Amino acid sequence: MIRRASAAFVRRRTWLERTGILIALTFGVAYGADGGVGSIADGVYTEAQADAGEPLYAKHCLTCHDKKYFRERLKLWHGQSLEVFFMTMATTMPENSPGLLYDEEYVDILAYILSISRYASGDEPLVATDGSFDRILIGAPAR
Ligand code: HEC
Repeated sequence: MIRRASAAFVRRRTWLERTGILIALTFGVAYGADGGVGSIADGVYTEAQADAGEPLYAKHCLTCHDKKYFRERLKLWHGQSLEVFFMTMATTMPENSPGLLYDEEYVDILAYILSISRYASGDEPLVATDGSFDRILIGAPAR
């Protein structure tokens, strides 16, 4: 006698399941190995990093990007990871001399960019080398 597949197996997915799957698909890319995902609005850089980035930004970036540039510009990056943004600036900027600076300097500049774009600082420093940038999404400031 052929056994029918159990009803529980063939039943259609519930609304809740489908919503869960959709959310998982939408954000799945952003989940790293340890599952966490954050936003640049969560205080991802320290004040000290932003302070160190200020003179670097003034020297290497300000001529082309005034202090308000990234406030608007970052909106185009919403939903993308910080990794993509960081790699873009570290490999293509400054436009007249791409890759000129050390990674640490680009990180400090990134912290400064976040600070002048109204993102709050926090207790933990930005670290470019531990894979965490993949799990930090670009989103709107908290305020
Ligand atoms: C000589 C001018 C110049 C300098 C100096 C310069 N940039 Fe740029 N930057 C540009 C131009 C032009 C673009 C492309 C803008 C566009 O696509 O509208 C750009 C784009 C970018 C982008 C990508 C923005 C986006 O939304 O695609 C980032 C990030 C960036 N610059 C960061 C920096 C940083 C950080 C520095 C300093 C280390 C810097 N730039 C120095 C001219 C410059």
